[in-house]
This record gives sequence, structure tokens and C-alpha cells, in this order.
Amino acid sequence: MTNDIRKVALVFGGSRGIGAAIVSRLAEDGYTVPFTYVSREDAANDLVGKVRAAGGEALAIKADSAKPEDLSAAVGTTIDRFGRLDVVVVNAGVARMGLVDAVPLEDLDLQLDVNVRGVYLAIQAAVPHLKEGGRIITIGSNIAIRSGFPGASVYQTTKAAVAGMVKGLALDLAPRGITINNVQPGPTKTDMISALGNEATDMVIGMTPLKRMAEPAEIAGLVSYVARDEAGYVTGASLTIDGGFAL
Ligand SMILES: NC(=O)c1ccc[n+]([C@@H]2O[C@H](COP(=O)([O-])OP(=O)(O)OC[C@H]3O[C@@H](n4cnc5c(N)ncnc54)[C@H](OP(=O)(O)O)[C@@H]3O)[C@@H](O)[C@H]2O)c1
Repeated sequence: MTNDIRKVALVFGGSRGIGAAIVSRLAEDGYTVPFTYVSREDAANDLVGKVRAAGGEALAIKADSAKPEDLSAAVGTTIDRFGRLDVVVVNAGVARMGLVDAVPLEDLDLQLDVNVRGVYLAIQAAVPHLKEGGRIITIGSNIAIRSGFPGASVYQTTKAAVAGMVKGLALDLAPRGITINNVQPGPTKTDMISALGNEATDMVIGMTPLKRMAEPAEIAGLVSYVARDEAGYVTGASLTIDGGFAL
């Protein structure tokens, strides 16, 4: 891709972790990459600097995935600034662990709002701007298939919902030549997993046949593939990338 015909990939939740790796990878692939963040303006600005230093173009947009108006504003900013939208990646997600009798209502609501409603509304806001060949990619989790430990019931519910969501949306969007797929990472080296502590990290590594966590760039590599023209026959799929954890 040359600069004058640069396609645009909008990444919801791109400032850190897997999302930041996706922003970097899609910028390397030649996309202009606007991305959202909710609180870490520092990380978002650093990432924009890194992408630009490497010759790419990115734009940080503050937008809370729990707020419907922020999601449509992020799409509006993208169209105003860059005039087109080719790929949408919905990565923003939160995980709050807790056994069923100890889950506060606010943790339940936050995870449903960001991980399910926010995913749906981001896609709903973006769809009118996508053309034939458009790509939508959600970041779910292999926990939709296998949790393997207690305390993750709400998070698991949200990621299973996303796997179902892409099937229904794939049918809605197929007549318009737009594909939608769900990349399901397993344990991946990010702040989200390190927040669970060393014991939990060691446990999930022990449960993973390949005996390691993923690098965020490995997840971004699968996103890059699904975004390409050559992946045009893949739709409605949940693609698991988890070192064999869910086997
Ligand atoms: N790490 C894993 O092991 C793993 C495994 C399977 C699936 N996943 C999924 O992969 C995705 C990324 O996870 P991660 O590990 O990279 O997480 P992370 O390190 O915690 O980063 C989360 C990213 O999402 C953004 N975000 C969070 N809440 C948001 C909101 N309300 N509105 C907008 N942006 C929001 C954060 O923005 P700020 O920087 O502004 O906070 C940050 O950029 C999530 O959907 C997660 O469920 C992760």
C-alpha cells in the first residue's frame, strides 16, 4: 500500500497489550491506524510516537467502550480525519475475577458493558462505513471454550457471547461482502494477565501444552492475516490461538 491509497483500520482498545501489538502490526502492514483508549493517555501517545517513528500513521482517540456515544464518536473522528474505514478490530476488554457469590454488581455490569455491549455497539457504529471487502475482527478469548479454573464465570460469559455474536453478524453482513471473525487468544503477556499475580500466571502456563504465554505480536499476526484480502472466505469463525490450552 502506498500513502495515497492507505486503507484505514480502526482499533478499539489499542493503547496497551494485545491492542497495541495490533496497532503496530496493522501500521507495518500499511494501514493508517486510529485507535481508542480509555485512561492511559500516556501509553496511547507513546504508541502514536512509535508508529510515526517507524514511518506509519496512527491517531489516539479517547473513547470509553462502556459509553455508546464514545463509540460512535470514535467512528466519526475516523471518517472525518481519514475519509474511509476498511478494517475494524474490537479489542477493548476487561477481566474481573471472583467466585459467583462474591461478584459485585459493578464488576458484572462493567464486563457486560465493555466486553459485550461495547463490542456490538462499536460494530454497529462502524458497519455503515464499511464497503465490500470490509473486515471486522473481535478479540474474544479461548475461555469461551475452556476456563479450567474457578472465578472467571462473568468473563467467560462475555467471551462466549462474542463468539456467538460473530456468527449472527456474519450472516447479516455476508450479503454486503463484509467478513467478521473472532480471534480467541489464550494466556498472553500483557498487563491484564500480570494483574492476576505470579501464582495465577504460573498456573496457566502449567495448563498450557506449549508451556508458555503468547507474545502480543503473535496474536497480532493472526489479526493481520484475517484482515487481508486472502482471508476473504473466512467468516463467522472463532480462531483460537492459545498454545493448546483449550484442547
Ligand atoms: N492477556 C490475555 O491473556 C488475554 C487472553 C485472552 C483474551 N484477551 C483479550 O484480549 C483483549 C486485550 O487484552 P489485554 O490482555 O491486552 O488487556 P490489557 O493489557 O488490560 O489492555 C486493555 C486495552 O483495552 C483498553 N480498554 C480497556 N477498557 C476499555 C474501555 N472501557 N474503553 C476503551 N478501551 C478500553 C485499554 O485502554 P487503557 O490503556 O486506556 O486502559 C487497553 O488498551 C481483551 O479483550 C481481553 O479480554 C486477553
